[in-house]
Amino acid sequence: MGGSKKRKRKEEQRGSKGTAHSENPPDFALLASLYPSFHPFVQFSPPHARPTIDWTDFNAMRELTRVLLHHRHSLTWWIPDGHLCPTVPNRCNYIHWLQRLLSSDIIPRIISSDARVKGFDIGTGASCIYPLLGASLHGWSFVGSDVTDVAIEWAERNVNSNPHISQLIEIRKVQDNESAPCVEIEGSMNGDQITLSKNTDTEIAPLPLDLLACENKNYHGPPILVGVVRDDEKFDFCMCNPPFFESLDEAGLNPRTSCGGTSHEMVCPGGEKAFITRIIEDSTQLKQHFRWFTSMVGKKSNLKYLVSKLWEVGVSVVKTTEFVQGRTFRWGIAWSFLPPVQKSSISLANKKNTSFTLEVQ
Ligand SMILES: C[S@@+](CC[C@H](N)C(=O)[O-])C[C@H]1O[C@@H](n2cnc3c(N)ncnc32)[C@H](O)[C@@H]1O
Repeated sequence: MGGSKKRKRKEEQRGSKGTAHSENPPDFALLASLYPSFHPFVQFSPPHARPTIDWTDFNAMRELTRVLLHHRHSLTWWIPDGHLCPTVPNRCNYIHWLQRLLSSDIIPRIISSDARVKGFDIGTGASCIYPLLGASLHGWSFVGSDVTDVAIEWAERNVNSNPHISQLIEIRKVQDNESAPCVEIEGSMNGDQITLSKNTDTEIAPLPLDLLACENKNYHGPPILVGVVRDDEKFDFCMCNPPFFESLDEAGLNPRTSCGGTSHEMVCPGGEKAFITRIIEDSTQLKQHFRWFTSMVGKKSNLKYLVSKLWEVGVSVVKTTEFVQGRTFRWGIAWSFLPPVQKSSISLANKKNTSFTLEVQ
C-alpha cells in the first residue's frame, strides 16, 4: 500500500477528539497493574516482547473490554458468557464517524425538540455498547432496541450500572410480530456500473440500478424500525451493527480472536444484506423521523448493492466510510431523505465514475 493510502487510513481512524485508536493501543502492563482481575490474562513473556493477551480466549477479551471501558470511559460493564464481546476501539470508530456526520451540516440540523442529540441503536445487544459510548463521549441520548430477553436484561443492567448516564438511555424490547411483511432483496449491482470511491466519508452520486443479476433473499424477522419507532419520535440518527451472517456455518469462528456471539447476535436469514435492506425499506416510511440513517456493513461486496438500493428508493444523500482496526475492515453507510444544504463539486469528467469526496471534518 502506498504511503498516501496508509496516511489516509490513519486519518480515517482519527476520532473527533483527535485520537487514532490504532495509534493508541492498550497498555496491557499498565492495565494489569491497575486492574488485578485483568492481570492473569496478560502474557508478559517472552522477555522484551510487548505484553499481550490470548485473543482467542473469550474471557480475556471480555476482561479487556471491561477494563478498557472503565479506564478510558469510566463505564461499568459486563456481559454474560458467550455473548458478543465488543472491541472498544472498533465501536468508538463508528461513534466518531457519526459525530462527524452530525456536525457536518450536509443536511439541515433538526430534529429533536431539545438540543440534545438523540440516536436509535438497532440491536443494542447485551453489551449496550453504542449507547454507553455515545452517552459518555458526547452526551447523546439513545433508544437501544433488541429482540432477545437476555439482551434486554443485560443492556438494562449495563445502563443501570452507570447512573451518571442512565437517564440518557432507554432500552426497548422489539415485539416479534410474525405477520411483519418480508422485504425482497431484488438484486446485486453489475460491478461495472458503479464505482465506489475508496476514500472515507464519500458521498456517492445516483446511478442506475441493474436488477438483472438478481439474488432473492428476504428478511424474515421481527420489526426493525417501523413498528418500533413511535409516531411522535424524532431522532438525529439511527445506527446498527447488524447480524452479518446468513448461517451459523458462515459465522464460523475467527481463529485469530474470540469475540463470542450467539446465533441471535450473529445470524439472520439473508444476512446483513437482507437486514440492512429492511432498514432501507423502513427508512422510506420514516423519512421525517430521522436526520441520518446509518449502518455498519461487514462485507464490502454488499456495499455496492446497498448504495444502489438507496438511490432507487430516492434518498437525497449517501455517504460511506471504511473502518480499519488492526486487521479488521468494516464499512459504514449513511443516508438521508432531507435535502442537503451544501453542494459539493462533482467531477463530471467521467460519468461512469461519479463518486466524489466530501470531507466532513
Ligand atoms: C451483531 S449484534 C450487535 C450487538 C451490539 N450492538 C454490538 O455492536 O456489539 C446484533 C444484535 O441485533 C439484535 N437484533 C436482531 N434482530 C433485531 C431486530 N429486528 N430488532 C432489534 N434488534 C435485533 C440481536 O439480538 C443482536 O443483539
